[in-house]
Amino acid sequence: MSAKIIDGKQVAADIRKELKAEVSALKEKGVVPGLGVILVGADPASQSYVTAKERACENIGIYSDDNRLSAETSQEELLALVDRMNNDPKINGILVQLPLPKHIDEPTVLLAIDPDKDVDGFHPMSVGKMMIGEDTFLPCTPHGIVQLLLRSGVETEGAHVVVVGRSNIVGKPVANMLLQKKEGANATVTLCHTRTKDMAHFTRQADIIIAASGWPNTITADMVKDGVVVIDVGVNRVDDASRERGYRLVGDVDFDAVKEKASLITPVPGGVGPMTITMLLYNTVESAKRANGMA
Ligand code: GUN
Repeated sequence: MSAKIIDGKQVAADIRKELKAEVSALKEKGVVPGLGVILVGADPASQSYVTAKERACENIGIYSDDNRLSAETSQEELLALVDRMNNDPKINGILVQLPLPKHIDEPTVLLAIDPDKDVDGFHPMSVGKMMIGEDTFLPCTPHGIVQLLLRSGVETEGAHVVVVGRSNIVGKPVANMLLQKKEGANATVTLCHTRTKDMAHFTRQADIIIAASGWPNTITADMVKDGVVVIDVGVNRVDDASRERGYRLVGDVDFDAVKEKASLITPVPGGVGPMTITMLLYNTVESAKRANGMA
């Protein structure tokens, strides 16, 4: 069997079309959703993510306030900018691109963001609400994964989902979201990580694998059962002299081999990536609606 490819670009385009219509309707009522974007430093991957986020905003009519700060920016300066955005009624969502330079304390910065503008879903208040199943901004990559599964018709209820990777941005929240008593969740979840003994023992039992380890080839064909659904969150650069830029992007899954056993699989690029940005747009539109008593 060769897997069907889950086309994240198409699913993302469908959702963005819905959002674009919603933004137009809001504009007719005098509401323009706004996103404040902050990037500290010049990490090339972060720069391209931030540029992609701003372009996506522009494409659907969201106003974005672009702030690219030098790597030497102090924590106080960054906190002052967050505070300005917290108090700016044109800004409905605040995005501080992670990781931050070492001299800045990430938890302090995330805590400073007004939870009503926390469109990344990283504030402890948002994380806590998500954990107990209350309505809140959901973090974008995990939310995108859940939407991909839902819109691809994958049944999660009662399924055994094995998540590989325990980051705060993907692994922990996606595991949590999938075990909630909700539509598109209700799964039995196992969370594997670097200290898991015999990871293949768990992944071979999985109906759905979510690979978010940050390492190429974490999931190989011998580690999966026939018919598994595979969501690959990885974005890894590997040297490739045949490409003009000298590298290519691969996920955390040995795609070519695993697709021969899986029933559905996401590619890299073009799988989870476009969904992350889309859910950021979704949260920003939601925030604008809430701020104007429309949600
Ligand atoms: N760095 C990697 N992923 C993300 C994300 O979803 N949001 C932010 N702010 N930074 C990130």
